[in-house]
Amino acid sequence: MNDSPVFPSGFLWGASTASYQIEGAVREDGRGESIWDRFSHTPGKTANGDTGDVAADHYHRWRDDIDIMRELGLGAYRFSIAWPRILPGGWGAVNQAGLDFYDRLVDGLLAAGIEPWPTLYHWDLPQALEDRDGWRNRETVEAFAEYTDVITRRLGDRVKHWITINEPWVAAYLGHFLGIHAPGLTNLQAANTAAHLLLLAHGRAVEVVRGNVSNGKTGITLNLSQVYPASDSQADAEAARRMDGSTNRWFLDPVFRGRYPEDLAETMGSLMPEIEDDDFSVISRPTDFLGINSYSPFYVAHDPASPLGARMVEREGEHTAVGWLVQPEALQELLVRVHEEYAPGDIYITENGAAFDDPAPEEGRVHDPRRRAYLHDHLTACLNAIGQGVPLQGYFVWSLMDNFEWAEGYGKRFGVTYLDYATQERTIKDSGRWYAEVTRANRVLPIPR
Ligand code: FCB
Repeated sequence: MNDSPVFPSGFLWGASTASYQIEGAVREDGRGESIWDRFSHTPGKTANGDTGDVAADHYHRWRDDIDIMRELGLGAYRFSIAWPRILPGGWGAVNQAGLDFYDRLVDGLLAAGIEPWPTLYHWDLPQALEDRDGWRNRETVEAFAEYTDVITRRLGDRVKHWITINEPWVAAYLGHFLGIHAPGLTNLQAANTAAHLLLLAHGRAVEVVRGNVSNGKTGITLNLSQVYPASDSQADAEAARRMDGSTNRWFLDPVFRGRYPEDLAETMGSLMPEIEDDDFSVISRPTDFLGINSYSPFYVAHDPASPLGARMVEREGEHTAVGWLVQPEALQELLVRVHEEYAPGDIYITENGAAFDDPAPEEGRVHDPRRRAYLHDHLTACLNAIGQGVPLQGYFVWSLMDNFEWAEGYGKRFGVTYLDYATQERTIKDSGRWYAEVTRANRVLPIPR
């Protein structure tokens, strides 16, 4: 018999997706344009020119997708709401058809015994707001509060868990400094402002959820990574500290301590965002949980040529198809560290998973042993962290199914379900079959190596 240790009873098993990555139907039922429509349709911005126009066609196939969630034995499903379906112009006129879609989805999930865990912002900002400077303009924060008000009034009687913002670091820095995500800017000061306003939007949304949802629980999802120095030199140790500052502490400190980390604020100097008197009290409003997305650690060396004085270096070991190092113990260390240094209360892994070049389905099977091993080892890391006292309450695998992987397009597959984009046929991969057993056994089941 299997005697691997069990997760605490009530541990929540889930899977995650995001609106622009799966829904398609970008011009249906009154949806407005988002910055990702604009960006992906701009030549040269995504691999192969891929766009989310059709994606996994989830907008029409959501019933099939709930069946898959059932097969996987999920207790919760994390999806995101497309702001431009609800308020096509960003604010003002409400689009009933957009609200109706999420209403049906939520009812379908509840009927299947699956808790809906929506994220309010997973990067598809209405283009109308970007036309007025998007996350560089405080108006966008108020528009976000309005959107949150509209959607929580409609769904708050049934939806009790609300994630405010997904990965503000990525939205701010990949979108406004590195230019590889929408809206594609390359300006560090703009990125710092965007990061600040995304955090402020989080805090405003917490207030709105509290007002509109009785017994509601709310929190933010941060992308966090353990950062290690590439060597034992002092210079690399300091570089790693700065990278940790920009990746992790730049977001954890404002939310849980009500301030920016001083060392990095000093490095940013004149590039710091404008901060108004009440900002930190809004940003650090108490939350109910912290969502952590984590895939891989960073190894960092001193590099005077970069604005942070730090750069990532390659490390020997297994890498996924997007080049991310596989190192499960780093997840355990990260969880322990966040719990000990920030005590955010309940923690959920809201994303973890891996891209690999999967073979096409054969006789209804997709063999993906490396993804299964990745999940096995990262779930073991979660269990070890729980053993060290971390209040980890749940795990959401990224992703329920293959989807539009942003600038990487459809070539990078993260799903535990395979998508044949030509036919939209779905096939649960071996990793998904294994995950279905894990969710039912509430333990990490052994795998063949
Ligand atoms: C995260 C995103 C998610 C997905 C995974 C692979 O940064 O939140 O949408 O793209 O990475």
